[in-house]
Amino acid sequence: DQAAAAHGKRVLLAAPRGYCAGVDRAVVTVEKSLDLYGPPVYVRKQIVHNKHVVATLEKRGAIFVDETDEVPEGATVVFSAHGIAPEVREQAKALSLKTIDATCPLVTKVHREATRFASDDYDILLIGHEGHEEVVGTAGEAPDNIVLVQSPEHADTVEVHHPDKLVWLSQTTLSVDETMETVRRLKQRFPNLEDPPSDDICYATQNRQHAVKQMAARADLMLVVGSRNSSNSVRLVEVALEHGARDGHLVDYADEIEDSWLDGVTTVGVTSGASVPELLVRDVLAYLAERGYADVETITAAEESLLFALPTELRRDLKARG
Ligand code: F3S
Repeated sequence: DQAAAAHGKRVLLAAPRGYCAGVDRAVVTVEKSLDLYGPPVYVRKQIVHNKHVVATLEKRGAIFVDETDEVPEGATVVFSAHGIAPEVREQAKALSLKTIDATCPLVTKVHREATRFASDDYDILLIGHEGHEEVVGTAGEAPDNIVLVQSPEHADTVEVHHPDKLVWLSQTTLSVDETMETVRRLKQRFPNLEDPPSDDICYATQNRQHAVKQMAARADLMLVVGSRNSSNSVRLVEVALEHGARDGHLVDYADEIEDSWLDGVTTVGVTSGASVPELLVRDVLAYLAERGYADVETITAAEESLLFALPTELRRDLKARG
C-alpha cells in the first residue's frame, strides 16, 4: 500500500532559506512604489534575480529595463538590489528621473569599502563573477583601483600594480569555501594582502550555505529552488554536491522537477535561494508529498531576524502621503 511504498522516504528542509532582508526590502520597495506613484514604475534590471518575482511585479505594472536610457524622461525608476555604478546615478539625473534606490545595504557597505580603500590609494582585488550586476556596480566605484578575481585558479595569475598596498573585497553571494581558497592562493603570491574590515559575503548567503552543508551528506537528491542567474542559488547546488549530496538540481518551479530524478531516492534535501518566495518551496514540497515524500524534517542552521528600513526617498513620500 501507499504507506509501505513511502516507507523511509523523507524530506530535509533547510532553514534559513528563501528571502533575505535585502530582497524583501527590494520587492516591497517596488510594490509600495506601484501603490504610491501608480503604474508604470520602471525598474532598472531585475529587481532581484528571480523569474517568478519579476513576472508577478510585471503583472502589477512594473516595467523592467536593462539601461536607464530606456526610461522616459521624468519617470520613476527603481534601482535593483544588486547596486549600481555611480555613472548610472548620473545618467538618471541627466534624464530628470525620479530615482528610488533599492540597493541592499550590505552591497552598499562593500561600495563604501571600495571607495574608501581607493581613496587611500590601495589596489583592490574584487573576488566575484565578471558581468554580474553587483560586480559591475562595485567595480564602477573605483574602476582604476579594482581588479577582478574570478576563481581560485585566477588567483594564481592575476596581476596588480601595488602588491604592498593591497586589499581584497568580494561579491556578497559567493561560496564561502571557494572564496577562502581564492584568498589563500592570493596570499601566497601577495603576503601583504589585507582582509576586508568585515565579511563581504552576507549573512544570508553564509546561513543558507551552512544549512545545506548540514544536510548534504544525508541527501540522495538536493533540490534548490531559484533562478539560473541567481548567484547565491547556483552556489547552493554546488555546495550541496561538494558536501556529499549524490545529485542536485536548481529549479524555478516544481513542474521542472523530473520524476526520474527520484529513482532510488530515499532522502530529498530542499532549500531556496535568497530571492525566492516561499510559495515556490511549498509547491515543491507538495510535489514531493504526492510522490511519498511527506515526512519533512527541518534542519536549522541559524535564526534570522534582520530587517532593513525602506529606501529613504520612498519613506519620505509615504510619509507625505500620510
Ligand atoms: Fe543583501 Fe545578501 Fe540578500 S547582500 S540582497 S542580504 S543575499
